Amino acid sequence: MAHVLGIDIGGSGVKAAPVDTNTGQLIAERQKLDTPYPATPDAVTAVVADLVKSCRWSGMAGITFPGVVIGGAIRTAANLDSSWIGTNGVEAFSQATGLNVTLLNDADAAGVAEMKFGAGKGERGTVLMLTLGTGIGSALFIDGILVPNTEFGHVEIHGKDAEKRASEHAREAEDLHWGVWAERLDEYLLHMEALLSPDLIIIGGGVSRKADKFIPRLHDLHARLVPASLQNEAGIVGAAMAADSA
Ligand code: BGC
Repeated sequence: MAHVLGIDIGGSGVKAAPVDTNTGQLIAERQKLDTPYPATPDAVTAVVADLVKSCRWSGMAGITFPGVVIGGAIRTAANLDSSWIGTNGVEAFSQATGLNVTLLNDADAAGVAEMKFGAGKGERGTVLMLTLGTGIGSALFIDGILVPNTEFGHVEIHGKDAEKRASEHAREAEDLHWGVWAERLDEYLLHMEALLSPDLIIIGGGVSRKADKFIPRLHDLHARLVPASLQNEAGIVGAAMAADSA
């Protein structure tokens, strides 16, 4: 039985909890702090170190990052401070926390958890997980294998990044009615279907809790479309799983 601390860094909050990676269950209450602004490396690593302390953790930790992460290095940071770009993320978080850490993209982590314990369990073929939050994150699976760092939230629709129009943040910031937002999401999903022809699309992020407000308003796709089942915990669970298998 492996118990690993999962930490999920998002555009608005940073969440942490120890996870039993065999069951995907949190084994203690989730702790949450606001994402600092500006979200510079020093500020974000300090918040992560605080969470590690309040969880009284000294073992392995998996951390998600809302950007491209290759071999521990940060390549993009669309919704955090741009001074992250080019830094060695693993080194920064290890130094701040004193722990042995594994770092991966946030949507990839959420997808890995959904494929093992949630809405993607046992699914083969092409599965696309989209997380709708501050941005839009994507995780692509082919027969259960992750293609990491896909970044489909930055596909352009009407000359704009899809995430600027169809994320949960866009819905809230522009105070969009569910119908208007669902139309934008619809356009995006049709576009993704045209590009990838997935068998299954899983919609994650906090808004997946309100799936009844928008899923019935979407056009039929060839792909099956389902809300994520781990919802806000998927990132934490996936981060812990990644550290466990690193
Ligand atoms: C980032 C992705 C991230 C997504 C969700 C996007 O802006 O580029 O890496 O997965 O937001 O946080």
